[in-house]
Amino acid sequence: MIIEINSVKKIYRNRCVLNIPSLTLAQPVIYGVVGENGAGKSTFLKLIAGLEPVSQGEISYNGKPLSAETIKQITYVSQSPYLLKRSVYDNIIYPLRLRQVPENEAHTRVEKMMAMLQIESLRDRGAHRLSAGETQKVALARALVFEPEVLLLDEPTANIDSDTIALIERVLKDRKGMMTMHISHNRDQVKRLCDEVLHLSKGELLTTEY
Ligand SMILES: Nc1ncnc2c1ncn2[C@@H]1O[C@H](COP(=O)(O)OP(=O)(O)OP(=O)(O)O)[C@@H](O)[C@H]1O
Ligand SMILES: [Mg+2]
Repeated sequence: MIIEINSVKKIYRNRCVLNIPSLTLAQPVIYGVVGENGAGKSTFLKLIAGLEPVSQGEISYNGKPLSAETIKQITYVSQSPYLLKRSVYDNIIYPLRLRQVPENEAHTRVEKMMAMLQIESLRDRGAHRLSAGETQKVALARALVFEPEVLLLDEPTANIDSDTIALIERVLKDRKGMMTMHISHNRDQVKRLCDEVLHLSKGELLTTEY
């Protein structure tokens, strides 16, 4: 997977919040995305995920423009994830059902993912009644379960306790072959986890050392 970003701008109400002249992202790498509040980090990931249209320029995947097919290989886990008003299990299996993975295999993958993130005890709980940290873990499980090529994480450990952060970092490090972009305000985490750092400030990429 190669993502090429060419002269991309995002403009909200006459204000340019993101301006990336040229950038190539390649698998398999964990990119850290850092920068002050309002720097454009979430906007950047949403453009890559195809959740927001670019105002100018283009983003291509393996040389092709964004399409319904390519979007299926990408997943964005929001800063405040939205879970379906169903059980945790039903939320995690949902992307596999969407992709028509046979029910047996889907079940096995969900079980494995819940074990990996140590959330088995949440299985039958209503997903909309979870704590913030529990919600983030379930959202991450739901994103990882279908093995996307590109995983876009918007501050996934903001509400997570330190033991679970270590667990999540191990899970992410083990995902060989997947491209991950990880927004974080935690400098130590970025140094531990990320192979490359993209530093945004006021919508522009900085080239200085982070
Ligand atoms: N839908 C929108 N309409 C108008 N302005 C928006 C919209 N979404 C984002 N913005 C503006 O774009 C800028 C970048 O926002 P963005 O959410 O990408 O920042 P961020 O780097 O993720 O910040 P944070 O660290 O606080 O999450 C902000 O000034 C924000 O107000
Ligand atoms: Mg943000």
